[in-house]
Amino acid sequence: MKYNPLYELAKAWTKEAGENLRKSVQETIEVEFKTSASDLVTKKDRETEQYYAEKIKQHYPEHFILGEEGTVQDQDYEFEKEKVWVIDPIDGTTNFVNQKMNFVISVAFYDEGEPVMGIIYDPIKDEMFHALKGKGAYMNGEKISRLREGSLKEALISFNSFWTIPNDKVDGKKLYPIIENARGIRYIGSAALEIAWISIGRIDAYIDFRLSPWDIGAGIVILKELGGEATTLTGEEIDMTNTSTTLFSRPGLATEIRKYFN
Ligand code: IPD
Ligand code: CA
Ligand code: CA
Repeated sequence: MKYNPLYELAKAWTKEAGENLRKSVQETIEVEFKTSASDLVTKKDRETEQYYAEKIKQHYPEHFILGEEGTVQDQDYEFEKEKVWVIDPIDGTTNFVNQKMNFVISVAFYDEGEPVMGIIYDPIKDEMFHALKGKGAYMNGEKISRLREGSLKEALISFNSFWTIPNDKVDGKKLYPIIENARGIRYIGSAALEIAWISIGRIDAYIDFRLSPWDIGAGIVILKELGGEATTLTGEEIDMTNTSTTLFSRPGLATEIRKYFN
């Protein structure tokens, strides 16, 4: 398959970058505030994205990079027309700083807007979730079974409690019946990891009202490969050039959740 070499390279780079992050949690992490004390960036976010940018430039100089830290500047391209790597060098930076666990690297490859490859790597647990479109999804090389349908009453639902207080994206009261009717509520603090966990059934759905392409690029590939749902809250395809509302779940469950937002 034409994407195989790219897939193998991306997995090897991610393993190496992840080992680096794993070692770095033992060291003092230098933290900077982006917009506030709850919006962080570290030297490691930038270094990790830089690492991918160099590898991609060396192997695929014609490709573009959509990375959270904006390492590669002056790129002029249309997402729908080009080959683009979508990278979150550390998803869950607050966890990286405060917990030293529950953070991941999220790397995806989109070809003319088509989700092709996704890798989500948790370097502390050494769990790599990966998928190439049409070739199945895997955790550490072991094939993941397609997702079974699920209902809210048996589900663990993940969302940030921030969305239950007044905000400009959603009426938080709409989440109350979900909290009431679900088996339980969880929140990890890394969008990519929440999606990876849906793929193996550790949680059943993840709702968010403002995610960026790099948070979810890889998760979309992995979840779709398993028959899971990955759409906006209202069921449309996610726009990879903008922030979106998002609903990820095992099959069927999204429909049950969506009815609370109508
Ligand atoms: C954040 C995490 C978090 C989500 C935020 C993201 P970052 O990414 O995925 O779980 O709620 O919306 O921005 O800043 O740690 O890469
Ligand atoms: Ca992120
Ligand atoms: Ca990040």
